[in-house]
Amino acid sequence: MKILVTGVAGFIGSATALRLCEQGHQVIGIDNVNDYYDPALKEARLARLAGADNFRFMKMDISDRKAVAELFTTEGFDRVVHLAAQAGVRYSIENPMAYVDSNLVGMATILEGCRHNKVEHLVYASSSSVYGMNEEVPFSEDHGVDHPVSLYAATKNLTR
Ligand SMILES: NC(=O)c1ccc[n+]([C@@H]2O[C@H](COP(=O)([O-])OP(=O)(O)OC[C@H]3O[C@@H](n4cnc5c(N)ncnc54)[C@H](O)[C@@H]3O)[C@@H](O)[C@H]2O)c1
Repeated sequence: MKILVTGVAGFIGSATALRLCEQGHQVIGIDNVNDYYDPALKEARLARLAGADNFRFMKMDISDRKAVAELFTTEGFDRVVHLAAQAGVRYSIENPMAYVDSNLVGMATILEGCRHNKVEHLVYASSSSVYGMNEEVPFSEDHGVDHPVSLYAATKNLTR
């Protein structure tokens, strides 16, 4: 299968792409390699992936509507694993627009790419932070997500 992995230079995205490549899938990974944490770590993860013949990296920002739309049309993905996001709670106080761009606008470009190109399946990583002030544990997908306590949580909640 041809699979798009967003946030492929990240902690989870790089490991996911490696495993998908090992399974024989054709993987295209995108990431803007931002400096929220040391980009050298992200470059090292990409270097590990570069050895796979069935992997291709494209430096791209998911909030770039035109670039993402073109990517979907050109490549024709069977599956999308959407892991690119701006994480962190404290960082959101100083840099709110990073969350709007990556987690809201970026999410919408990925959803639109899937919708217009009939992608069969999309996997998205939300966050347990969406349960916010909810005191019921363990968390369940049926629990309320109406009281986020950070901008990160608010922008990772796609259920309501
Ligand atoms: N690690 C955890 O414990 C955890 C827990 C819950 C949810 N998640 C979610 O899982 C996903 C992956 O988490 P992670 O720990 O690998 O994070 P990470 O920060 O290591 O990886 C995210 C990657 O996305 C990239 N990125 C961010 N904004 C982008 C943009 N606008 N365009 C392109 N690339 C962009 C970053 O450069 C980074 O490489 C995220 O959606 C995160 O919210 C992670």
